Amino acid sequence: MFQQWDFKPELNICARELALKQEEGRTVMYTAMGAEWRPFGFPRRRRPLSSVVLENGVAERIVDDVKEFISNPKWYIDRGIPYRRGYLLYGPPGCGKSSFITALAGELGYSICLMSLSDRSLSDDRLNHLLSVAPQQSIILLEDVDAAFVSRDLLPTDNPMAYQGMGRLTFSGLLNALDGVASSEARIVFMTTNFIDRLDPALIRPGRVDLKQHVGHCTHYQLTQMFQRFYPMECAASGERFAKCALALHSELSAAQVQGHFMLYKMDPVGSIDNVGKMKE
Ligand SMILES: Nc1ncnc2c1ncn2[C@@H]1O[C@H](COP(=O)(O)OP(=O)(O)OP(=O)(O)O)[C@@H](O)[C@H]1O
Ligand SMILES: [Mg+2]
Repeated sequence: MFQQWDFKPELNICARELALKQEEGRTVMYTAMGAEWRPFGFPRRRRPLSSVVLENGVAERIVDDVKEFISNPKWYIDRGIPYRRGYLLYGPPGCGKSSFITALAGELGYSICLMSLSDRSLSDDRLNHLLSVAPQQSIILLEDVDAAFVSRDLLPTDNPMAYQGMGRLTFSGLLNALDGVASSEARIVFMTTNFIDRLDPALIRPGRVDLKQHVGHCTHYQLTQMFQRFYPMECAASGERFAKCALALHSELSAAQVQGHFMLYKMDPVGSIDNVGKMKE
């Protein structure tokens, strides 16, 4: 069901086993090897979506959109619209873009096809081929899309790489691959970037990116939620106090920093509040 090939000698695991792993609550990660997708590492235990704390309503917005898309192929077919949907998560490092996509794949029971656009062995043809043979029920994940290309609006003199792309993958090759042959199978592409302003508008226009979502530094809401997840025995007032102190002392906190801080005070919620000033910016 998942692959043309059956046995993965490098993993000593066969396609059927992989499918079972997926059903069992694990997420299979694929990476591109030559002309095909290969499972990468052992299937990962699914991360619950609720463990990635985004601003109120953000996760629901994306999850609802993806689920609606998956459940509605007829709507697209009836209107002659290619059955694919693109998502862009953008924002500073460590705020949960990759974690959220991994958890979302788990929630959907999908695998992830991870692809690096700055892979020098990637050519236009190869990318096109890989996107067309991605395993069913998978999310194609293009991380750090800004790293491979820069905006065509910049003068080539300002940016010598502007029209070149990297390796043999060209910018127009990427656009063509994203627009690729419509398939009856839902195609979901997630892209991430730390720098949305470096992206060419053509890459993120509707049809290529249908939903853009900023994933930013922690808000008061996120800080209280994270505190409560980490210290479930604590009262809500402590979470409020932690969030208030954290925001008073730090202007921009990533969830990764907050998680790191909590790890230092695993059994000591009071200590995590009292020492909130020590959190690294
Ligand atoms: N919103 C969040 N809720 C809970 N944990 C988070 C959140 N954001 C980040 N983390 C934790 O911080 C670490 C880094 O997060 P992640 O890799 O998802 O960030 P990112 O936004 O993809 O960063 P980058 O832009 O550098 O790729 C992970 O261990 C993750 O568990
Ligand atoms: Mg990331």
